[in-house]
Amino acid sequence: MAVLLPGGAGYIGSHTAVELLNEGKEIIIIDNFSNSKPEVLDKIRKITGKDFKFYEIDYLDREKLEKVFEENKIDAVLNFAGYKAVGESVQKPLEYYTNNISGCLVLLETMRKYGVKKFIFSSSATVYGEPEMIPITEECRTGGTTNPYGTTKLFIEQILKDTYKSDNTWDICILRYFNPVGSHESGLIGEEPKGIPNNLMPYVARVAAGTLKELSVFGDDYDTPDGTGVRDYIHVVDLAKGHVCALNKLDKEEKGLYIYNLGTGKGYSVLDMVKAFEKATGKKVPYRITERREGDIATCYADPKKAKEELGWEATKTLEDMCKDSWNYIEKNS
Ligand code: UFG
Repeated sequence: MAVLLPGGAGYIGSHTAVELLNEGKEIIIIDNFSNSKPEVLDKIRKITGKDFKFYEIDYLDREKLEKVFEENKIDAVLNFAGYKAVGESVQKPLEYYTNNISGCLVLLETMRKYGVKKFIFSSSATVYGEPEMIPITEECRTGGTTNPYGTTKLFIEQILKDTYKSDNTWDICILRYFNPVGSHESGLIGEEPKGIPNNLMPYVARVAAGTLKELSVFGDDYDTPDGTGVRDYIHVVDLAKGHVCALNKLDKEEKGLYIYNLGTGKGYSVLDMVKAFEKATGKKVPYRITERREGDIATCYADPKKAKEELGWEATKTLEDMCKDSWNYIEKNS
């Protein structure tokens, strides 16, 4: 029985593919390379020494997707095929709603048609909007997303809840990621944002590499220890391992709809990140304080207790690992 990974060549998908193969799982990747590269597939094979099937298709293409389900014995689906750039989603809302929501609907309908009902969804801490409390627990109110990307995550969570309510033979796990950073220690796979990065860590890494001149720190007047925004940065390999634990839970336990935060429970400010990156890499990261970025919140970090108790998962990599591995990827791939 295989695990299907739409978007498995992307940043989080490829790292999860590695961890699933390392656990001896059979995987099948589908990807249209809209935000990833074909070379990643061989890099996953190289890291793990294992092979897997791949289909170059768009998960919105129902006919081709059905063929994948006809040709293979699929047991579970982990969906990594969502678009994820906050700023781009404001410019291209229809593309985001179509790819993220319609794509997920095609996937769920196809799964239902072929009797596959185990599903793990990549959600985001963005569904908490302005958080009700810190640290954020899974019980905190959701809603109030500030961009179409975040709204697609919120809507899909609702679609999944309604689907489970209508038919409790579905077995669903929603994983709410905090801020994934870093790369596999091999430096073979990592994050490759298109154009100028929006997210802090890839931006910092490019400033250190000299590709970008300086970091703009978006505001130093937040109600945080040093005035800059605080986030829960989590190493992508830890995050990937969280998916393996979630899949094991769905395999072992009663059917249900489960929701988990995947974060470390620690908050670091923008300036903490700059200092940690400089220390871990020995590179200077020049920065300048600028205006706040619209839609940003002051503080966001997880209470990761539920994932520890119920999945037996917790993040183990340090901030130093996150910085070193991000830098290693940049050095090996530029
Ligand atoms: N920041 C800067 N300068 C930059 C980029 C970011 O100062 O050039 C600051 C931001 O203001 C924020 C922090 O660094 O305080 C982190 O910003 P990111 O853009 O890296 O991450 P966000 O927390 O804004 O967003 C991330 C993901 C989203 C997800 C969200 C969930 O990018 O996909 O977390 O909370 F929805």
